Amino acid sequence: MTSSTTQRAAFGIHSIDHFALEVPSLNEATHFLTAFGFGLENAGDQLLLRTPASDHIWVRVREGARKRLAYLSLNCFADDFEPLRAQIVQAGGRAAAPAVGSGTDGFWFEDPDGNLMQLRVGEKTSPGFKVWPQPAARLAGLRGASMRADAPPARPQRLSHVLMFTPDIEHAVAFYEQALGMRLSDGSAGIVAFLHARHGSDHHLIAFAQGEAKGWHHSAWDVADVDTVGIGKMQMAQAGYVEGWGVGRHVLGSNYFQYVRDPWGAYWEYSADIDFVPPGFEWPCGDHAPENSLYLWGPDVPAYFFENTEQ
Ligand SMILES: [Fe+2]
Repeated sequence: MTSSTTQRAAFGIHSIDHFALEVPSLNEATHFLTAFGFGLENAGDQLLLRTPASDHIWVRVREGARKRLAYLSLNCFADDFEPLRAQIVQAGGRAAAPAVGSGTDGFWFEDPDGNLMQLRVGEKTSPGFKVWPQPAARLAGLRGASMRADAPPARPQRLSHVLMFTPDIEHAVAFYEQALGMRLSDGSAGIVAFLHARHGSDHHLIAFAQGEAKGWHHSAWDVADVDTVGIGKMQMAQAGYVEGWGVGRHVLGSNYFQYVRDPWGAYWEYSADIDFVPPGFEWPCGDHAPENSLYLWGPDVPAYFFENTEQ
């Protein structure tokens, strides 16, 4: 696996602004995503997804023949835009036409797998510091858990990360390091790789899993604490979405997780307490055996979890 310590790129992106997915049915998507806790705006030919935390549009969902990533939009600082554009071209990024209906601002290009990407100057949506979860048990003599009826529903607060299948994980990691200035946090050589952004981000902002072909696996959504992760699992089961994986705790990234399978075989993850890499910090990147690093505790991984439903 490419090391993030060799021939580092001079500039780097800081955030994912949003991503656009195509799915076969906006009606089914509306049911699933409303149950997950998003605020949905029906904008005619697409759904705009927001969280209660801000007015930021995190996802655009459009109708298409099958589930697939339409594009991924990445944000950088203003002074870094032109150097980053040059860096992307130098690393082999191919300039591309903008996605239909998405405006023409920024620089559009394809990564080595043909994923359409947009680089633009934009808000730093990745966190600037580690947010500590509220402890469940507060003080002696006080009840730690709320009554069930009083528990608020699980609602995502912000995008944490995305994970895509790639047919060549070494090549993907090298491109995201050299073109976009991302840094490898941890991984299992040839199987999974987790990359963070250098200006302060979660342990992984973009991650890859080796597959036969490219494909969209999941997006992860930060929630307040592990209780909310569990409440999210129950909430989605009550809405009819029982397939997925969790509740558990990852080793690489340390987050508590619940993955919920959507009608097209992609996952939407409730995530809490993920590790944070401060700006400029040298995370001790490791190459870990998968059987020792996928999860610390949780149920067995369902056989379908690593299926690439876009193949
Ligand atoms: Fe994840």
